[in-house]
Amino acid sequence: MLIQIETPDDIDAIHDLTSIAFEPMAYSDGTEAAIIGRLRASGDLTVSLVAEEDGEILGHVAFSPVMIDGVHAGWFGLGPMSVKPDRQRQGIGKALIARGLELLEKMGASGCALIGNPDVYRGAGFSSDGRLSYHDLDTRLVQHIVLHGPAPSGTLRFAPAFEN
Ligand SMILES: CC(C)(COP(=O)(O)OP(=O)(O)OC[C@H]1O[C@@H](n2cnc3c(N)ncnc32)[C@H](O)[C@@H]1OP(=O)(O)O)[C@@H](O)C(=O)NCCC(=O)NCCS
Repeated sequence: MLIQIETPDDIDAIHDLTSIAFEPMAYSDGTEAAIIGRLRASGDLTVSLVAEEDGEILGHVAFSPVMIDGVHAGWFGLGPMSVKPDRQRQGIGKALIARGLELLEKMGASGCALIGNPDVYRGAGFSSDGRLSYHDLDTRLVQHIVLHGPAPSGTLRFAPAFEN
């Protein structure tokens, strides 16, 4: 399996994979594939990685700039992330996250934040100390990993593509 930065040829496959992976999820509102398209169109798709095997895209993860208390201080958000349903729980998601964090660190990013199931992200190094919040969501679901500098504190806001 190879993990690579997306190319224009991957765009349709990323859209289809994202739709299929999120479709059974109760928390999905069905907008995840469109969010990736809007991030790309607005220049906010900072890192977009695909996991490929034999020319097939098995997984994808997006990273985009976020604001904390209204300021972008080098923090990025992880998501949407998708793995082909019949290839989930085989380490593909973890490998995508690890490569993404490596690239963000090389770019000098301060860190990465996300909203999701702690059981999925704990092993990749994400945690919550309750100081980063997102609307009235349980802060245990608002997780982060520091790459440089201090731990984040404040209200997390994703790129406008998530709000359209
Ligand atoms: C979330 C998703 C991308 C994870 O990808 P994956 O390739 O299955 O994940 P991995 O096999 O690398 O597992 C990473 C960790 O998550 C855990 N995990 C994976 N799926 C899980 C699940 N459904 N429930 C609880 N833990 C899960 C694994 O046990 C592993 O934990 P570890 O690091 O402590 O060993 C994939 O399940 C998916 O596409 N889900 C549908 C779309 C979605 O919900 N995206 C994320 C929104 S928050």
